Amino acid sequence: MTCALDKSNIEVFLGNLDMVPGSPSILGKLLGLFQEMDADLDEVVQLISQDPVLVLKVLKKANSTYFGLHEKVTDIFDATTSLGLYEIYCITNTLLAQQAIQYARSLQDFDMNWFWKHSVSTAVIAETLSGGDPFVKSTVYTAGLLHDIGSILLASSDARKFSNLRWRRSALETDRLNEEVQAFGYSHDKLGAHLLSLWGLPESICSSVFFHHQHIPRKMGFEFGKIHAILRVSNCLSHYMFKPELGMNFVLDRSEEELAFLQINPEDFSWLILNSKRVMDKIQTLL
Ligand SMILES: [Fe+2]
Ligand SMILES: [Fe+2]
Repeated sequence: MTCALDKSNIEVFLGNLDMVPGSPSILGKLLGLFQEMDADLDEVVQLISQDPVLVLKVLKKANSTYFGLHEKVTDIFDATTSLGLYEIYCITNTLLAQQAIQYARSLQDFDMNWFWKHSVSTAVIAETLSGGDPFVKSTVYTAGLLHDIGSILLASSDARKFSNLRWRRSALETDRLNEEVQAFGYSHDKLGAHLLSLWGLPESICSSVFFHHQHIPRKMGFEFGKIHAILRVSNCLSHYMFKPELGMNFVLDRSEEELAFLQINPEDFSWLILNSKRVMDKIQTLL
């Protein structure tokens, strides 16, 4: 099962926007490299060195008190070695999301602060739920960060129309998607997946973003079933984290089967949310 995109029409929609976030080529290449089980450290360092902002972030993190190094690290190779490839992967992801967000800063009526907090917390929760598999871990983090990027595209198309959508008052995911399709011709999940595919991100990320508001029965054998389940649960938990008044049932109703598949109980919600808040505080100090 793969995501079927009506490419020509979506590209017309994107082409009509004043500006579409460009392909962040170095970050895209790095993400591709990290998907390989035996990523070459020299190649990673070479790519990082081409992006001054990335160099700065990597050195800043390597020298942060969090890592407790006694001497200042000034060399990008040493910094990469001391942090490890996974930390570099997270920094790369954060930059990727920041680029998309900077693009959208000029949009009126778009709640960027909420968008940022929701995206990062979804990524952090997803990472926590990923278990030990490095492929799943790296994929769900990126998918979590970028899963709602299609919202930015809809808001770019018509910010006022986007802010007037009424789905926020609805408990049903399908209401939101239907309303977006009626207003814009596309929903944010499909549009976002298409942009990520244009950026050259892996199919595992594009597909899980494409289906993040859809329940997919296990028996359909979706290749990225675990990634999809983690993304759906993390998305719901992030909403509950910032709006506890939604109640646990918001998460349970929307992702009951995915919770069962991942063997997550409602008792786990509070520590997952606490952990996400702790990690988000740490990320904010590094930005
Ligand atoms: Fe979404
Ligand atoms: Fe979301």
